[in-house]
Amino acid sequence: MNGLTLGIETSCDETACAVVTRESEALSNAIASQVELHASYGGVVPELASRAHLANMIPIYEAALRDAGVAIGDISAIAVTRGPGLVGSLLVGLETAKSLGYVHHLPVRGIHHVAAHVYSPFVHGRAAGGEGFLPAGFDFPYLALAVSGGHTSLIVAEAPDRLRTIGRTVDDAAGEAYDKVARLLGLGYPGGPLIDRLAAEGDSTRYAFTRARLKTGGFNFSFSGLKTAIARLVEREGSIVFAPERPERADLAASFQAAVIDSLLTNCERALESTGFSRLAVVGGVACNRGLRCAAAERLRGVSLVFPPPLLCTDNAAMVAALGAALGERAGRVELSTNVDTNLSLEQGTESGAMQRA
Ligand code: KG4
Ligand code: ZN
Repeated sequence: MNGLTLGIETSCDETACAVVTRESEALSNAIASQVELHASYGGVVPELASRAHLANMIPIYEAALRDAGVAIGDISAIAVTRGPGLVGSLLVGLETAKSLGYVHHLPVRGIHHVAAHVYSPFVHGRAAGGEGFLPAGFDFPYLALAVSGGHTSLIVAEAPDRLRTIGRTVDDAAGEAYDKVARLLGLGYPGGPLIDRLAAEGDSTRYAFTRARLKTGGFNFSFSGLKTAIARLVEREGSIVFAPERPERADLAASFQAAVIDSLLTNCERALESTGFSRLAVVGGVACNRGLRCAAAERLRGVSLVFPPPLLCTDNAAMVAALGAALGERAGRVELSTNVDTNLSLEQGTESGAMQRA
């Protein structure tokens, strides 16, 4: 087979490798999650994450080739996340990519993690967790809402490598807020899926939380006030009120989730109106949220809306490989001297060739 790209993603706590065709079909999508390792700490511990990446990297690389039914000799290029992310985690992926590229004489492309999320709607195939989720005619340009544990941004996507951030969180990311509120309620980690499930049983009108109104204008987000309001409420009422068997617990989860969804969708509506775009992609771990999916379909009628399948929303290497394949030479080439960039900016990391110079 020709034109296959091997993707490698290790920016946070998922060790992932995938084999993707030139047409963005994922032939494999291997992921080793570290959720259990970090669960007792209520969040990702960077040192533990990099050690787990080291242990998982080679078995996951082998699994990606095996699942795709190919050998390394069938691969034409490697695409790897170069930033942003945790330094120790990124290093494991980048050094693996460089070593494989050197030994097997393959070009290595450096990919921006959030740009890969933005491109994720175009990945398809059984290994990607679904088919037919892309609305007919969905293509560039579009507006992307990237919502995860590390990012909450509104991005104008003109082309795979022409991305412009028009709104971002000024404090916590939406996923981070989910994880922190889940910790306050003693729910466990990661908090997003747990709150999502609990919220479905609760009354979202029981607790009224004011939505952050930012003076900075634009399309920015803020979630730390909401998290503090919930911390105060739990403190005032006493944690016993929110014990597992109490209906207040589900009502609080539902009220919190409604506030987050309202903030996200209000900004999307404003941005769609101001840019004149009629296409919106919601990507990143929080895009798995069932409440957000339902509310978006209801509030954004007439908008061509895409939520990739959950496997493509949370961190994965298929989206990294697919973007690498789409950009080809236009993605910056990673040399043996190229380093990770924990703060790689979206504009810098996707402008054609920019990474070559970095
Ligand atoms: O994209 P991702 O796997 O990693 C980052 O790049 O951060 O996103 C992980 C985040 C976590 O904060 C997790 O709580 C959140 O996505 N998440 C959810 C749901 N599933 C995962 N948040 C809300 N609802 C969900 N169903
Ligand atoms: Zn991510």
